[in-house]
Amino acid sequence: MATPAIRTRGLTKHFGRTVALEDLDLDIRSGEIFGFLGPNGAGKSTTIRLLLSFLRPTRGSAEILGVPVSDVARVHRHIGYVPGDVALWPQLTGAETLHLLGRLSGRVDLAFREELVQRLQLDPSRRVRTLSRGNRQKVALVAALQSRPDVLLLDEPTAGLDPLMEEEFQAVARDAAARGQTIFLSSHILDEVEDLCDRVGILRAGHLVEVAALDDLRALHTTVVEVQLDGEVPAFTDVPGVTDVERVDGGVRLSVTGPPGPLLERLAHLPVTRLRTEEPSLEEIFLTYY
Ligand SMILES: Nc1ncnc2c1ncn2[C@@H]1O[C@H](COP(=O)(O)OP(=O)(O)OP(=O)(O)O)[C@@H](O)[C@H]1O
Ligand SMILES: [Mg+2]
Repeated sequence: MATPAIRTRGLTKHFGRTVALEDLDLDIRSGEIFGFLGPNGAGKSTTIRLLLSFLRPTRGSAEILGVPVSDVARVHRHIGYVPGDVALWPQLTGAETLHLLGRLSGRVDLAFREELVQRLQLDPSRRVRTLSRGNRQKVALVAALQSRPDVLLLDEPTAGLDPLMEEEFQAVARDAAARGQTIFLSSHILDEVEDLCDRVGILRAGHLVEVAALDDLRALHTTVVEVQLDGEVPAFTDVPGVTDVERVDGGVRLSVTGPPGPLLERLAHLPVTRLRTEEPSLEEIFLTYY
């Protein structure tokens, strides 16, 4: 197997009696967009700080591209990050900040920086201190992205971005992944990772409770289908995967779990006038783990 972009084994962090992270095993491949989900206090930022070697683990190990994260000089050449609480020099302008952070990372394509500034609609001439939270967040994002690092560690990167900018961030992130960059991002907003991520890990009180491809996660769960019919409503209870059949005005409402093929075959022979499906949101899926 190719060297994973990120690998952790038994990664654990205790703060006194607080278990911030317990026995985390993760393998994230290059080019993957991985969403790290959990409510406040679950241990997301702790994990990212451990990967950055800002914190020392209580036990366990973490590697980025096969290099132990404690080898800071080697690892940091490969990573870009945005902390959860963006702290920048208030007196510098956006442009000065990007220049300074770009020089630290050593290899910035100025045309690419300019493209990111345009796409995220950042005004680089303004001093950071005068920027709103969302605009400061954009400076931090451009700073992390501008050197096209192999691995991006982003702690709630879209907190503070408006929906349009969030969409643009997602497009930028997809472009990065398409180039082979790996993105590890934390979130407690499920909708945003639902569109973006290939897989998600769900963290609860320091414990990883599930890692799943989003498609698999959805397949485990149920889609509600409402069918309006012109005429007789037949029984559906014999269709594989179908449950909770309920008559409604002009049709039927039912749940289907697993592949919808058998239901679709049945429907194909009926005078269906309207079909409405409700996918469970990640929120609903997520809540079933609690
Ligand atoms: N420096 C620290 N000292 C003591 N406890 C800490 C420290 N940093 C984090 N913790 C605790 O570790 C746990 C995990 O915190 P962490 O910041 O990783 O959560 P999070 O998932 O990032 O939450 P949020 O969504 O609020 O950002 C919490 O119980 C927190 O109080
Ligand atoms: Mg956090």
